[in-house]
Amino acid sequence: MNPFFIQQYGGPKFFCDREKEVARLIESVTNNRSLMLHSMRRLGKTGLIHHLQYYLKKKHKYTCVYLDILDTDSDESFVNQFINACILTLFDDQATILTKITNYFGKYKPKLSIDTLTGNPSIELDIKTNKEVELSLDATFKLLRSSKKPIHIAIDEFQQIGQYPSTKIDATIRKHLSQTKNVKMLFSGSQRHLLLSLFNNPKKPMFGSVEQMELYEIPYPKYSKFIHKMFHNGKKNIDERVIHNILKWTRSHTFYTQYVCNRLYALNKSSIKEIDLYRMQKQVLNEMQMTFLSYRNILSKNQYTVLKAIATESSVKTVRSKDFTSSYNLASSTAQQSLEYLVDKELVYEKLTEEGKEYFVYDLFLSRWLEK
Ligand SMILES: Nc1ncnc2c1ncn2[C@@H]1O[C@H](COP(=O)(O)OP(=O)(O)OP(=O)(O)O)[C@@H](O)[C@H]1O
Ligand SMILES: [Mg+2]
Repeated sequence: MNPFFIQQYGGPKFFCDREKEVARLIESVTNNRSLMLHSMRRLGKTGLIHHLQYYLKKKHKYTCVYLDILDTDSDESFVNQFINACILTLFDDQATILTKITNYFGKYKPKLSIDTLTGNPSIELDIKTNKEVELSLDATFKLLRSSKKPIHIAIDEFQQIGQYPSTKIDATIRKHLSQTKNVKMLFSGSQRHLLLSLFNNPKKPMFGSVEQMELYEIPYPKYSKFIHKMFHNGKKNIDERVIHNILKWTRSHTFYTQYVCNRLYALNKSSIKEIDLYRMQKQVLNEMQMTFLSYRNILSKNQYTVLKAIATESSVKTVRSKDFTSSYNLASSTAQQSLEYLVDKELVYEKLTEEGKEYFVYDLFLSRWLEK
């Protein structure tokens, strides 16, 4: 089995480090503090949530609910998904599920159906008005309060609620969080400006209500040791030099590192050499070429020039400097406007550091392809 997971959490054996992060998260949960977790895309938030919930279940006897709300678009769809996740985690036999939904949500005409392929149950409630959204959430929290066990609920891609038309979700959750002692929540996401505006804007209901944590890259020595161990366990040899080059090429960014290691592991070889990595890098970029080429059509000439220039430089602190503008033949104001567009479209990431801002191409593979 390939030990490098790229689409889901593979369990603690295949999870690298995050010890300090998990300790901090467990400390906050067990001391009654809810939390907001954010980071760049693909750094490992979802994996970390599953890893945290693994320990909360195993060592702290929590009931753990996880939901990803990326495909919801309104308060009604949120409530349906939230209720489904809570009920289906709390109760596992159909008879109890039926009794609970009838007792707690009877007036929303609940329907319980079973997926014929997976055998998984799902609940559908008929919720239409703002009042029904609020009342059905009230009923869900009442149900959660009635549980004897401590409950941890993680809502992934939480920034999505910022896209709902006039949402009442954040206000209702905030009200219940302060009244529900046995429930702690974790809100996670990556679209920093959307997410932070939900929590750091004094006009928003969630303002100041939860602790905040940013996730960073896994430290080099930990990732390097992990990669070595995973290859070694699979009776494959990998040189320190190759590991060093992988982490340098991927900037230790979790998803890309996992991906490259997954592909290298999949080669039917007992020893991985630098030439294998080199070939792999070339192949991966070739496979993605069509997607990358399409950026040329959707961006203006200047935007594409700035994107390519940032990739070539690896990262830049400003695009207005004389060095940058004369190297790439751009006017300072055009370069700045293009940069703002690229940041807005999440093609370029704006990293806030103690010394100021730093910009790099968000998708690492795109960055490596452009610099070529
Ligand atoms: N510490 C880790 N060790 C090993 N694999 C990890 C680790 N963290 C994450 N992964 C794996 O890397 C992949 C990408 O991580 P994940 O999906 O958790 O990132 P994310 O920050 O939630 O991304 P997105 O912003 O797109 O939601 C997943 O397959 C995940 O299992
Ligand atoms: Mg995620």
